[in-house]
Amino acid sequence: MAPLLSCFRIISLVSLFYIPLDSNARTLPSVPGRTVSETNHGVCFASSEISDVTKLSNTQVSWLHNWSPIPPTGLPADVEHVPMQWGAGAAETFQSFVLNANATHALGFNEPDLGSQSNLSPTEAASIWKQFIEPLASHGVRLGSPGVTNGPPPSMGTGWLSDLIEACSGCTVDFVTIHWRVLLLSGDVPS
Ligand SMILES: *[C@@H]1O[C@H](CO)[C@@H](O)[C@H](O)[C@H]1NC(C)=O
Repeated sequence: MAPLLSCFRIISLVSLFYIPLDSNARTLPSVPGRTVSETNHGVCFASSEISDVTKLSNTQVSWLHNWSPIPPTGLPADVEHVPMQWGAGAAETFQSFVLNANATHALGFNEPDLGSQSNLSPTEAASIWKQFIEPLASHGVRLGSPGVTNGPPPSMGTGWLSDLIEACSGCTVDFVTIHWRVLLLSGDVPS
């Protein structure tokens, strides 16, 4: 059973992720200065403001995702970047970004079930996954599922994800990502 990763969005700027890691999870490669804990807060960072990203230093936020294989400028050293292969584009370069950065986790495809987002069929996504994302598993990188929309199955949402898992036999999915958009009050944000 893959652990869940969920995304809480705060007013279209910042989202928090909580990853309950499962006890059967593979051992993570050790990355100096970085730890993975049972309650692990992360941020979906949609801004390019350096003054925003630097505020994450010395907080409970230990990792950040920005829909990109490349970290935002100004990312503090105590916040781990989680690279994403957003869609089909430049998939052949993804492995080198992940491995050169010593990333411990990587994400595949943003809303592939939506035409205006990465717009991939489960078969297309499986093909890209097998060729360009799956090899990272043998390097100890934990792989997160594509983040589908809440659109209706069978062609969207959980239906799309089921079709991907069927089309991608032998593929590694260490955790399932969930888009969960809620308005949080300032007191909900870890300092
Ligand atoms: C990745 O790890 C290698 C080996 O420990 C190290 O030499 C390199 O500086 C690291 N790269 C980054 C970006 O942390």
